[in-house]
Amino acid sequence: MSEVEKWGLAGVMGWPVSHSLSPRLHGYWINEYNIAGSYVPIAVEPDRLEQAVRALPALGFAGVNLTIPHKETVMPFLDDISEMARMIGAVNLITVAVDGSLCGDNTDAYGFLAALRDCAPSWSAATGPAVVFGAGGASRAVIAALVMEGVSEIRLVNRTGSRADALAERFGKTVSSIDWSARHETLGDAALIVNTTQCGMNGENPLDLSLGSLNDAAVVNDIVYVPLETPLLRDAAARGNPTVDGLGMLLHQAAPAFHAWYGIDPPVTDSLRDHMLAAS
Ligand code: ATR
Repeated sequence: MSEVEKWGLAGVMGWPVSHSLSPRLHGYWINEYNIAGSYVPIAVEPDRLEQAVRALPALGFAGVNLTIPHKETVMPFLDDISEMARMIGAVNLITVAVDGSLCGDNTDAYGFLAALRDCAPSWSAATGPAVVFGAGGASRAVIAALVMEGVSEIRLVNRTGSRADALAERFGKTVSSIDWSARHETLGDAALIVNTTQCGMNGENPLDLSLGSLNDAAVVNDIVYVPLETPLLRDAAARGNPTVDGLGMLLHQAAPAFHAWYGIDPPVTDSLRDHMLAAS
């Protein structure tokens, strides 16, 4: 196939996948940059993931994103996995190399940090301890980001303590597991708190957390983006704390994927945010 016949194919593999906002997000940039290509949702049953992934080079895909439940199970089927994806223990981006090999990466940590920098420019790794709620896949990406950024003390709080213990151990002495019962007091000297649980998401209970002891300058970041203002962010804003909503992480994690496939580094703009908000 000659270059002119090449169609820039990319997409997202998940099961289910119809809820994914990624086609709308990448579709915006494809349109914006007038790219001859498409980004499609690809519904892949868990036991056919290997077949689907191995078919990507033959089908002419530049690569794909992965979403639930494939981010971890895809790893054995890839030829190369980045240090970041190994650290997080999950892959959300596959790029098909020129020789047809499959390279796995994870852009969630990058997306988290880029959104944090964007919305809370006063924050830096040196500002003080970070407190992270939740011990699932999203928490691993947030902790990896904070560790890479050089935060020297990260407190991990999870309802099920054993999951926090296991995750803290994986990251070494920078990360300590804090008992769920001590969650309110541990905020006292924190510079950043991050909710990575689904608490506060539409239809879920809010995170059971009192911000009473929180420093006025502490940044409160919720990676939930539906609704944009969770009860946690509303409480934080009412006290005057800087807040970061979850939409920025979704938008920023997509930019390096777009760059990997199409060679363009797209900016995250207000009009992109509006375009995504119009979908919900
Ligand atoms: P993901 O991979 O998206 O991060 P996950 O692995 O299902 O999702 O993890 C969800 C996180 O939300 C967990 O930390 C979970 O706590 P448990 O380990 O105790 O289950 C947390 N979570 C979910 N519902 C919660 C609730 N009502 N209160 C506190 N934490 C909750």
